Amino acid sequence: MNYTILAIESSCDETAAAVYSSTHGMLSNHLYSQAFLHTPFGGVLPEVASRSHLEKMPIIIQQALDTAGCTLNDIDVIAVTHKPGLAGSLLVGVCFAKSLAWATNKKLIGVNHLEGHAFSAQIENDIPFPYLCITASGGHTSLYLVHDFGVYDVLGQTVDDAAGEAFDKIAKLINLGYPGGPIIEQYAAAVDFQDFFSYPRTKKSSFDFSFSGLKTAVLYDLVKRNAYILETKQFTQASNILLQQQVASSLLVCISDIFIDKITYALKQFPQVKAVAFVGGVACNKFIKRKLQALCLQKNIPFFAPSPQYCTDNAGMIAFVGHYKAHKGEFSDLSLDILR
Ligand code: KG4
Ligand code: ZN
Repeated sequence: MNYTILAIESSCDETAAAVYSSTHGMLSNHLYSQAFLHTPFGGVLPEVASRSHLEKMPIIIQQALDTAGCTLNDIDVIAVTHKPGLAGSLLVGVCFAKSLAWATNKKLIGVNHLEGHAFSAQIENDIPFPYLCITASGGHTSLYLVHDFGVYDVLGQTVDDAAGEAFDKIAKLINLGYPGGPIIEQYAAAVDFQDFFSYPRTKKSSFDFSFSGLKTAVLYDLVKRNAYILETKQFTQASNILLQQQVASSLLVCISDIFIDKITYALKQFPQVKAVAFVGGVACNKFIKRKLQALCLQKNIPFFAPSPQYCTDNAGMIAFVGHYKAHKGEFSDLSLDILR
């Protein structure tokens, strides 16, 4: 059976819609990013996010249909992110999806946002199973052993902050703005991705991640360095920028080392693994990608990361999961609720 799926994603600060077809693949993938609305606050303001979703959702859905060259009549299934995320934001997407499904008598599928990320590298690549998948985003950091579409074990997760959250919080600490990941990468590039401050790495022989200690270590280190700068009256605009670059670079190297350690440990534990995938917003980071690619090359194992449009939050990945769920007959009914 062929399906054409319209997907809706609104779990955080991106209003997104996409159309995926069994016969033609991804037909459209549209997005409205609210990031600029939240930048002045250094993080996402939930009520601002919900209101913006409410305003932009019909426009983005129409754009996704137009680009795909179809109307609602051509759609068989409405897929929607229903967990996890900001409650108010999820509610807007789920309400739109349920209303559309009810009014047009279409099938409905609730999709787990994290499953969307975990399979996002499959949209553009044929990845052999089983593969290891590191998902690193602003809200989540997990390691999966993926056996098949929709079939995976969660090997480890962050016990506190997510990797993207560490970039965002530390960027805020050194006055670089939100979202932190892209600007940290830019500042780190200016000093050649060197490790200046050797921030602490987490335990190697574990699948779980922890980033809040890293944040505290950066904070204490900064307090010490700033006290020294004040004492020796060395503060200038240039020295401040250099310090921001050195923190950014040391942080990036530290986080990439943590990922390298996790993959190395997991490959040892699961020799049957045939590939490694790196997904989520943090997978936009070219430096970390290069490091992981080099590791996989050395281990003689293929490495995959989605193109940036499928790394950060997007509806394409939700449509893709919706599509294989439709084939498995995993439909939801109109009682579909959100789960934070
Ligand atoms: O997947 P995503 O759009 O949203 C969540 O599901 O959370 O990820 C957003 C996160 C933010 O924390 C952002 O700082 C991070 O991805 N990010 C990056 C880069 N681009 C985005 N982190 C590191 N390097 C980047 N180039
Ligand atoms: Zn996400």
